Amino acid sequence: MTKTISEILDQDHFEKQDIVTLLSANEQDRNLLFERSAMIKEKYVGKRVFYRGLIEFSNLCAKNCYYCGIRAGNKQTNRYEITEDEILEAARYAYENKYGSLVIQSGERSDKSFVKRIASLVSRIKKLSNGDLGITLSMGEQTEETYKSWFDSGAHRYLLRIEVSNPELYLKYHPNDKKHDYFARLESLHLLRKVGYQVGTGVMIGLPFQTVHDLADDLIFFRNFDIDMVGMGPFIEHENTPLYQYKDELLSKSERFYLSLKMVAILRIMMKDINIAATTAMQAIDPLGREKAIKVGANIIMPNLTPSKYREDYLLYEDKPCLDEDANDCKQCLEARIHMAGGDIGYGEWGDSTHFKKRKKDEIK
Ligand code: 5AD
Ligand code: SF4
Ligand code: FES
Repeated sequence: MTKTISEILDQDHFEKQDIVTLLSANEQDRNLLFERSAMIKEKYVGKRVFYRGLIEFSNLCAKNCYYCGIRAGNKQTNRYEITEDEILEAARYAYENKYGSLVIQSGERSDKSFVKRIASLVSRIKKLSNGDLGITLSMGEQTEETYKSWFDSGAHRYLLRIEVSNPELYLKYHPNDKKHDYFARLESLHLLRKVGYQVGTGVMIGLPFQTVHDLADDLIFFRNFDIDMVGMGPFIEHENTPLYQYKDELLSKSERFYLSLKMVAILRIMMKDINIAATTAMQAIDPLGREKAIKVGANIIMPNLTPSKYREDYLLYEDKPCLDEDANDCKQCLEARIHMAGGDIGYGEWGDSTHFKKRKKDEIK
């Protein structure tokens, strides 16, 4: 006999089939899921939403992921790297406005000068904020030595999305070569944990060839890895990428959006005390996308601090929001939106995941 959504929601543990049923819920049933996840969020992480001011450091990338608008093979992109002064200015803005933390993201590179520059930038940001600003890096796969040098410079969280947790499916979205090796990426996640970072990962939702069974496996992957933070959002096609050829086979954008919302809600129930981001890609589909994600379980938001002149060159996908806005516009806009969604902002706090803190304590025991 198949279980009802309410029966599943009353269980302490979800098996894969339960997750598949939840992901397939119709409009009425999905509201039961959203109500439950909102309650769990309120109980375990509360109303507070933490900011991670996002600096899109550079769109230079050595990789060629088939979905991404800034892949090396896209010759239409105008490549940039933000100057050191501009980064420090953005960091100062974050500090003065009590953002708590920064996320510095860029395309993947591993040349020596890049590695050194990041280490020195991280130290300088720590210094200008008297150690107060938390720093998250998102710079792809690197060697253990590089991860260590950035950690020693002061970064304490790292985001590396696995993109899809199934190695066979991974091959459909990446070239089959050494630079795009699923197992190397997985190893990187282990290295990051070994070095001491709070580790975040994530996936894209609604990719061609991907089913709800794959997405259920993705959620189970997060649980098995005992991850500290997750950022996931809808796949959005980009014209100058190989995956664009499947654009007519995709779920509608609204379906991808609701599937993403269900992923956030289910994950909040499965992993009650981790940090979950309300991602920009959700807002690209629905103008209230991030607010809706916050209501059903997300507790992290990344206001864009990238200087306006670079924003339109960091186009991973179409319809990316906030291209004409600057840091101040996004700050005011977000504040109003978060309050509307019933949240309050954790100004001046790092907002580390309580999951990480517990995991660390358990390691010491
Ligand atoms: N649609 C949605 N997300 C994308 N990303 C890259 N390209 C796309 C796209 N077309 C995501 C990837 C990557 C993150 C930085 O952006 O998950 O890890
Ligand atoms: Fe580069 Fe990341 Fe885009 Fe892949 S997803 S092409 S690694 S920026
Ligand atoms: Fe950037 Fe609303 S968050 S304009």
